[in-house]
Parts: sequence; C-alpha cells; structure tokens
Amino acid sequence: MIASLQRHIQDTNPLADAPTVRLCKFALLELNEIQDYGARAVECLIDPAKRQASAEWLQLLDDCLKAAGGLDGVSEAVLKSIPRQHSSKPYVYDKTPKRDERFQDPYNAGVKPPEAFLYSEKYLPKPKTLMMYYKRLREIDVPEMMSSIITETKGKPWGYYLDMTRQLWDEARHGMMGEVGFAKDNVDWTKIPVNFTWSLNLNTQLTPIERHAVLYFIEQGLMPKTGKRFEWEVAVASGDALSGLFQDYDWADEVLHAKIGARLVRQGLPNSQGSHRLRRQVLVPNPQPLPRVQTKGFHPTPQLVARDLPGRLR
Ligand SMILES: [Fe+2]
Ligand SMILES: [Fe+2]
Repeated sequence: MIASLQRHIQDTNPLADAPTVRLCKFALLELNEIQDYGARAVECLIDPAKRQASAEWLQLLDDCLKAAGGLDGVSEAVLKSIPRQHSSKPYVYDKTPKRDERFQDPYNAGVKPPEAFLYSEKYLPKPKTLMMYYKRLREIDVPEMMSSIITETKGKPWGYYLDMTRQLWDEARHGMMGEVGFAKDNVDWTKIPVNFTWSLNLNTQLTPIERHAVLYFIEQGLMPKTGKRFEWEVAVASGDALSGLFQDYDWADEVLHAKIGARLVRQGLPNSQGSHRLRRQVLVPNPQPLPRVQTKGFHPTPQLVARDLPGRLR
C-alpha cells in the first residue's frame, strides 16, 4: 500500500491532483507507522521455523497480489488460477464476542456495578481512579457490540459508516485507557473478571437499531453532572494526572457519541407500522429517570436497557 501511494504521488500531476496528493502524504505518515510496528512485531513473534511453516500461505498471498496486478492494480496481472480458501463459503458474521486468554470468566455477571463504589462518599478519589480504570477497561464490550451494528446495517451512506467507525475506535481507545491505567499502577487486571454478557446479549437478542438505541440512551445519560463530568472531577481530585487526562478525553468523546446517536438512531428508525411501536418502545419521552442518572429527552423501555446487569451506566 505504501508503494502504491508513493507511485501515485510520483505519477500524478501535482497541480491537477493536489487534493489527492495531500491525502496520500498524510496516509503515508500513518502507514509507515503501521509498517514499523508490524516489522517489530514480526521480529518478536516469528522465528525461521515459523516462517518456514507459513511459506505456503505467504506464497498464496504473493500469488493473489500478482494476479491482481499489485494492490493498486497498476502492474501487469500474472494470470494464474488461485483456488478460493476462506472465501469459498460466504462469510457469516459471528455475533458471539471472542477475547484472548487474558480475559477470564466472561459470563461472570456477579461483579457489582462500579457506580456503587464510585458514587459512595465513603471512599477517597484515589481508589476511585482504579474503579474508573476498570470501567474504561470494561468498555471493550462496546466495540464488540458496535461492530455487529455496523456489520448488520446495510446500504447506509458513507457518512454513517464513517461516524460509526470513528465511535467504535473511540470505544476501543477507552478500553485501552483502562488497561494502560492499570499498568501504570502495577495492577494485574487479568485477575478481575471482565464479563461480555452485555455485548453478547445485545448482539443476540436485539435488532441493530435497537442495539444502537440502547447505546444512545446510555451515552446521553452520561451528559449530566453526575456522569462523565463527575468522573473527571474525581480523577482531577485524586491527583492521578493520567486518570484526569483520560477522563477528560473520555468525556469529550462521549459528547460526540451522544450527538452521533441522536442523529443516527432517529434517522435509522424505519417508517412502517412496526416503527411506531419501536419508536414508542425505544425512544419514549419519560419523566421517570432511572436511578442515579438524570436524563433529559428520551428513554428506551427499561426492559430494553436491563438486558444485562442492572445499573449498567458506563
Ligand atoms: Fe466510551
Ligand atoms: Fe461512547
């Protein structure tokens, strides 16, 4: 891909094609970083024996590239019949989240909602930063759930997928913030169960628009003073500068996500008879706020939100 972008910059007219040249330059910055990371990862993980064991696969990739005339399709294609491998059967999306061996006990829903600790006046801000790192780490289930919405929602304009993918990456960053915070404090988070029942239940029991409505409901519920602002204030009061920084960006991201949800969920509700029921079920004005969350505007039905732990508030 790097070679393709470099070739485009070299071959094109820098005046006529200036916007594309500019995009290619910025893309190359990131692609070079990816290449550097990949080379170092390969150095750590691959020895000659493993390289030998992968020889057939690597040859197949080379053959595919040659048959396509390179990644940019500019080189002359080498005609060779290449049997399909994984794509010989149509891809079927698997809604069940998969995690690596660091995550234990994924069905353990017995972990108390962190909010009980976070909002208690009995505890000092510093230990609360650990609970917030846990909350951030648990956000790994948001990309697990958002990926299913994006995969199963077809035919939307490009902007839909752009916004949703940006948000998915934000949520992955939030999860990594928790991991980094624990690493800084020398806490082995792999000893703590991080359950995936929220993403599993939403992925397998709700339609994509219902899943998105649940996410939107949760995120708009974070906007009052008792939500993201409170977490940032606790982090700042704790003296843990990293926690303060992470909560600041986490808060800002969630403001954006609530806006994205407000727009896309309303747009996504179909205009059919069933949609009126869905609108009533998913987005009904509700004067009764759920415990500890002061929300304005719209609430999904409690049953929809309460598919998992009570008090799942992010
Ligand atoms: Fe988040
Ligand atoms: Fe979010």
